[in-house]
Amino acid sequence: MKVLLTYSSRTGNTEKVAKAIQEVVPADTAFSQISGAPPPEEFDMVVVGFWIDKGKPNQEALDYLSTLKNKKTAFFCTMGAHPDSPHGQKYIKEARTLFQENQLVGEFACQGKIDEKLIETFKAFPPGHPHALTEESMKRFEIASNHPDEADLDRARETFREIFQ
Ligand SMILES: Cc1cc2nc3c(=O)[nH]c(=O)nc-3n(C[C@H](O)[C@H](O)[C@H](O)COP(=O)(O)O)c2cc1C
Repeated sequence: MKVLLTYSSRTGNTEKVAKAIQEVVPADTAFSQISGAPPPEEFDMVVVGFWIDKGKPNQEALDYLSTLKNKKTAFFCTMGAHPDSPHGQKYIKEARTLFQENQLVGEFACQGKIDEKLIETFKAFPPGHPHALTEESMKRFEIASNHPDEADLDRARETFREIFQ
């Protein structure tokens, strides 16, 4: 089976997960950022990695996903929210719907450190603004800042090891 492992990553979190997954996929798997990915038609299976941008997979990944049809697929993603939180669950559920025209055989999600520049812009919002920093959001950002950690990368490896067994 010919496999393509491709991903989009702005600040490196999703790339870290992609590299961990690369360690456990078949040795001849093609590995590439989405921007330079070979045509998906050449592959029996495509594994796609993305990060969550305003509740959805980032635009580059969305565009890429719209080109996949009747393909065996799996996805992995990183997000600021905890994947088990209500927000995280909503993102994952919505992401699954993007694979409806494909056969989705596995998925993985974990938190990823939020870009400091984004946190700086949140600091500029006045109290009461939906994106204004609160004690709760600062705590969340602080927790996210330690991810993906070794445990996340191990879980990613384990998930994809099982997929390819
Ligand atoms: C512009 C922007 C929007 C984001 N929107 C969300 C969001 O809606 N929900 C969330 O949980 N995380 C959000 N994040 C956090 C990213 O999904 C997270 O930091 C991710 O790990 C970034 O991946 P990357 O390092 O591979 O680019 C956002 C980050 C940025 C920069």
